[in-house]
Amino acid sequence: MEHWKVTMLGDGGVGKTALAVQFTQKQFIETYDPTIEDSYRKQVFVDGKMSFLEIIDTAGQEDYSTLREQWIREGQGFILVYSVTNQTSFQNIDRFRKTMISLHAELPVFLIIGNKADDPYRREVSAEQGLTYARRHNCEFFEASAKTGQNVEKLFGEVVRQLRAN
Ligand code: GTP
Repeated sequence: MEHWKVTMLGDGGVGKTALAVQFTQKQFIETYDPTIEDSYRKQVFVDGKMSFLEIIDTAGQEDYSTLREQWIREGQGFILVYSVTNQTSFQNIDRFRKTMISLHAELPVFLIIGNKADDPYRREVSAEQGLTYARRHNCEFFEASAKTGQNVEKLFGEVVRQLRAN
């Protein structure tokens, strides 16, 4: 069976762990416990074919940035996550994208995800802003919610599809 390593990148608190847990365990984590490193595994059926996905959940917090480099080198696909409720986390996506590029000889597969799309009252980043950024960098973009499950299956399926095509 094919085996893919997918790395989650983004600021602390944007919901990287919550997305990985929603995808692999179908549950939503309410509490916030900053990640150091975790990995999640799941077999997924995409376009009629089974894949084994290893999801590396990195620390968003700056203190762990040396460790993060190692995880970025090892990743084959990347999910760059910001929270639609936090403008700064959206701006910081660009730093994560540049770091990812600098640690790979060839442009890896990556997707941009605007998480917490279930929370309209706290929204600071429009879908249009996310889409414009993703278009500029020629990558797929989804708004998602680890809370409701919106687009969670879809985004991991899309990473697998692109990794196969790459
Ligand atoms: P680090 O481990 O520090 O990098 O953070 P993280 O990006 O893994 O964030 P985490 O998944 O721990 O989520 C942070 C907080 O946001 C938690 O309280 C979650 O319950 C909440 N959260 C995560 N995803 C969503 C979402 O889609 N909607 C809402 N409303 N809250 C969310």
